Order: sequence, then structure tokens, then C-alpha cells
Amino acid sequence: MSKILLQMQDVSLGYGEETVLSGINLEIRESELTVIVGESGCGKSTLLKGAIGLLRPTVGSIRLLGADLEGIDEEKLSALRKRVGLLFQGGALINSMTIAENVALPLNQFSLLPPGAINSLVRMKLAQVGLEDAMHKTPPELSGGMRKRAALARSLAMDPELLLCDEPSAGLDPVTAAALDQLLLDLRSALNMSLLVISHELGSIDAIADRVVMLAKGKKVFDDSLEQAHSTKISVVKDFFDRRPARSQTRGRSVLERFVKG
Ligand SMILES: Nc1ncnc2c1ncn2[C@@H]1O[C@H](COP(=O)(O)OP(=O)(O)OP(=O)(O)O)[C@@H](O)[C@H]1O
Ligand SMILES: [Mg+2]
Repeated sequence: MSKILLQMQDVSLGYGEETVLSGINLEIRESELTVIVGESGCGKSTLLKGAIGLLRPTVGSIRLLGADLEGIDEEKLSALRKRVGLLFQGGALINSMTIAENVALPLNQFSLLPPGAINSLVRMKLAQVGLEDAMHKTPPELSGGMRKRAALARSLAMDPELLLCDEPSAGLDPVTAAALDQLLLDLRSALNMSLLVISHELGSIDAIADRVVMLAKGKKVFDDSLEQAHSTKISVVKDFFDRRPARSQTRGRSVLERFVKG
């Protein structure tokens, strides 16, 4: 069996008095690409926060890259986080800095490399996402898709073993979203990374997922292969995957259908 990079055992996560997720058992293995699905507000981003120790579980245990997060000190946690790439829901680039400076941030912060080596690495990371020509531009000067790729380059800066992506293709047009999906797949095979991706885009899920985890009503309700997700009789999963035809169909319609179905 391949190495387990992230393990949650009977985990509850929430904010103050509110429990968002409970009884969560989850294992993410080396070189797997798992997509987390579920309706807005069901706790997908909360799960990612738990995975990297930004949010401590009220019940249960979380192991990240072999280390138990319970009671872990900030120094050890920060060392672990260096090995995990994070692509936030909004991208979270710094608008006043160039793309190259944004990508250099984690390298300056976490590595002891000299400036020349950092510059070469930044160029390499930007080349991986096809942005070397835009390295001196700032995020507001880029398109939405380019900003996503720049944020991806930054999350790859430290060569993460595990990459966590929160809605990487949200807000992109279908062609750009499909290109970003392909980029994730290419990077994963080139860098042998594991990915945990949050997505609600069915086309994207079909394109990238090995495995699908669904959250609903505070619980994990499904955890199996993409193939099983399409053939399951579990109604909440079936409803999710039955919303639309294949990616080649207009995406606008599936959005409309989503509204109609609620
Ligand atoms: N910082 C916070 N403080 C208090 N409650 C929060 C906080 N962040 C999220 N929540 C609540 O936790 C629940 C789950 O939120 P979360 O962001 O995990 O949902 P999500 O599945 O990522 O949704 P979306 O698909 O819209 O991004 C929601 O009810 C939300 O209001
Ligand atoms: Mg979210």
C-alpha cells in the first residue's frame, strides 16, 4: 500500500459552538487525486483548514505527513506546512507585487537559498504553468486564468508532497477551466504529487478525479472511485452527478439546472 499523507480519524471540526463536520474518517494516499464535493457551506474549506492545522479538531485526530497535529508546536507545524502546497479559494496573491515576487515569497520565507537560486526557481515554477512571459506583471494586470496559474505556481514553489486546492477552476470560463485541470494533471504526473481538490464543477471532477469524497449535512457520505460515484445508488451522490451531461455541453445550462434544482 502506498504511503498515507493525510489521515483523519473520527474528526469533528467547527467554529465556536457550531460543529460543521463530525465523524470524519479520511485517508489521502501518495500520488492520488481526490476531489471533495458537496454543496456550498457543507464544510469543504473547513476540512482543508483542519488538514493543515489552521483549525484544530474538537474531537478525533489528524495526521499530516506522518505527524499527529494534536498538541504540535508552531515550529513543527510550520515545518510540515512547507511540505504542503495550498491554493486558496480566491488565489490570495499580493496585488502590489509582481507574479515573480509572489512566487518567490514562500522561497524567501521558508528556504535559505541565495537570491540567484530563488530567481531560477521562480522562473522554473512560472514556466511550469506557462507564465514566464508575465513574470514582471502584477496580478491585476493578468486575466483570471493567469492569476489562478500564478497562484498555482506559488503553491508549487516549495515542491509540495501534497497540494490542497480549494475550487481551482471556479470563476473561469470552460476552456480556461479545462486547461487548468489539464495543468493539474500534468503537474501531478511530472512532480508525483498527491492532490486534494475541492470542486463543484462536474466537468472538472470527471476530468481529474481518481476518487470522490462527498460531504453532506456535516458528514462524509461517499468515498470511492470516480467510476463508483457515477454508478452509486446513494441518492445524494446520484443527484449531484445527475445534474448535467458531459463537459462538451454548455456549462451555462448546468448552472441554470443547479438553480432550478436548488
Ligand atoms: N471562520 C469562520 N467562522 C465561523 N463560521 C465559519 C467560518 N468559516 C466557515 N464557517 C461556517 O462553516 C460552514 C462551512 O463553511 P465552509 O467554508 O467550510 O463551506 P464550503 O463547503 O467550503 O462552502 P463553499 O462551497 O461555498 O466554499 C458554514 O456554515 C460557514 O458559515
Ligand atoms: Mg469553500
